[in-house]
Amino acid sequence: MYLQNSETMTKQAPDITLKPKVTSIVKINNLNVHVGQHHILKNINLEITKNKITVLLGPSGCGKTTLLKCLNKLTDLYTELRVSGKIFIEEDDILNTQKNVPVIRQKMGLLSQLPYPLPISIYKNVAYGIKLKGVRDKKLIEYNVEKYLREVGLWNEVKDRLHNSPTSLSIGQQQRLCLARGLAVKPRIILADEPTSSLDPISSKIIENLFRKLKKNYTIILVTHVLRQAVRLADNVVFMYYGEIIEQGHSKDLFKNPKTEKLREYMLEGN
Ligand SMILES: Nc1ncnc2c1ncn2[C@@H]1O[C@H](COP(=O)(O)OP(=O)(O)O)[C@@H](O)[C@H]1O
Ligand SMILES: [Mg+2]
Repeated sequence: MYLQNSETMTKQAPDITLKPKVTSIVKINNLNVHVGQHHILKNINLEITKNKITVLLGPSGCGKTTLLKCLNKLTDLYTELRVSGKIFIEEDDILNTQKNVPVIRQKMGLLSQLPYPLPISIYKNVAYGIKLKGVRDKKLIEYNVEKYLREVGLWNEVKDRLHNSPTSLSIGQQQRLCLARGLAVKPRIILADEPTSSLDPISSKIIENLFRKLKKNYTIILVTHVLRQAVRLADNVVFMYYGEIIEQGHSKDLFKNPKTEKLREYMLEGN
């Protein structure tokens, strides 16, 4: 039997200094994008959870790429786009911050549909990312080039031809090289815009497996119109249609119980 002395049973006051666990890394409030009369993103509200794969899913032209462009301020390059609302990346309100754009962009690695390696050697492509972070020591650069090439599973495939041009690599390998260069800048978030659409099934699978591994250390926002890829990879899904978020939620719930006719139709079409 348990006997407790009332004096030892002093109630523990809740520790109000304990902060709630912060799990979202991006918060978007009332984001709107217009081009002339065309309203291409409509009142987007979204939170992206850290260390998860969030898939932006939806048919072509629904605004997925534009949403990614807002996140790394690439919209600044398109003077015709009018962007309003708030986007918080960690603590920064990036549409209104005084911080310079490169600092914000370095938080995000971007992987596009087609790989764009720089026209320098395989080695220098990764070294470029490392030097962007201010590393100058040759040995340290060398160490990190190997580290990032290993991180994307490319080291063994390229270690004997590091000083060749990336054009000697397959498209899938080039995509991984671009990912290694992006990781070398130590981003917090990986933005991937249909990164497997130009790849063969085996290379696509390698990228998908990499994403599963990388989410331990990074937050991944993946754009795809391929339903099967979303089902395979997503922790969270954001389903977009004509500039709007129609449904969002945990992948399993969302695909098991689509709430809207639009998502049901999309799933039936099996895009
Ligand atoms: N710079 C631009 N000028 C005019 N229209 C644009 C521009 N960027 C995107 N759009 C339009 O916005 C819509 C969404 O485009 P996008 O974000 O590329 O869609 P998704 O990536 O889902 O295919 C499309 O109708 C597209 O034509
Ligand atoms: Mg697109």
